[in-house]
Amino acid sequence: MSRQPLLEVRDLVVSYGKGSALFGGGEPFVAVKGVSFDIAVGEGFALVGESGSGKSTIGRAILGLVSVAGGAISFDGQDIAAFGRHIPLSFRRNVQVVFQDPRSSLNPRRTIRDTIGQVVERHFGTSAKETEARVGDLLAKVGLASYFMHRYPGELSGGQRQRVAIARALATEPRLLICDEPVSALDVSTQSQILNLLADLRRDLGLAYLFISHDLAVVRQVADVVAVMHHGSIVEMGASEELYRNPSHAYTRMLLSSVPKPDPEGREERRAMRVALRKAVNASPAA
Ligand SMILES: Nc1ncnc2c1ncn2[C@@H]1O[C@H](COP(=O)(O)OP(=O)(O)OP(=O)(O)O)[C@@H](O)[C@H]1O
Ligand SMILES: [Mg+2]
Repeated sequence: MSRQPLLEVRDLVVSYGKGSALFGGGEPFVAVKGVSFDIAVGEGFALVGESGSGKSTIGRAILGLVSVAGGAISFDGQDIAAFGRHIPLSFRRNVQVVFQDPRSSLNPRRTIRDTIGQVVERHFGTSAKETEARVGDLLAKVGLASYFMHRYPGELSGGQRQRVAIARALATEPRLLICDEPVSALDVSTQSQILNLLADLRRDLGLAYLFISHDLAVVRQVADVVAVMHHGSIVEMGASEELYRNPSHAYTRMLLSSVPKPDPEGREERRAMRVALRKAVNASPAA
């Protein structure tokens, strides 16, 4: 069977600051320069690259939060640009997002029941009783006991808050989950618990992921396909195991050399390699 695309991104161009003197005397700053990729149904797709390379901008363009200067994005065969400013509820339902910092994405004055329940009611028109049962189910899916629904975000740990943010995203029964640095604010052991949870959810629910991270080690656990971004372009894309085994682009090798390894002995050698590769990359950014 052919690989069924759920999301198609073609020659995407996104620019910021048109007309602003801050950006080269009125020239727009092009943050994404002609990026193309597909995400299949149920696939884990990762965008990696250093800060400012344009990863979150791509996520925002897919969510309709920034306007697109060129190219096309389609979801399930439907052109997203055609929505204009009025993004249909069905699209919002299908594409959900989890951000890095649940402290700022969850309302501190609302209980978890109200935060998740509001989404359930809006999308499914449930009664109070049905909503509460559904919130309990969603919390169970992310590994939290149902009594958490009576708590406020400030009464949870960082990992628990991120579980709540995932439960809220799952509340609409999405087909694509955009995770923008979802574990970057967590300590290493909590990171791996959340990554395991995301992997389990993908398997159980058939979810597709667009996973955004600056950290190749994180992405390895959740992605089938990895695209490496540098200065607004994809410089390398491939099956994740293949890319780790045999990175062809100097920039990818540099990112891999910054992934911490257990042996402290090779540290100096890797540092020298990073310096050399950074020089090579800077000399030819599109090589
Ligand atoms: N609202 C904005 N106005 C102007 N420029 C912006 C805006 N948002 C992002 N940029 C610029 O666009 C470029 C890409 O930003 P983006 O947030 O997509 O990077 P990123 O790869 O997600 O980085 P990080 O890993 O730090 O989150 C950066 O140079 C950034 O300064
Ligand atoms: Mg970002």
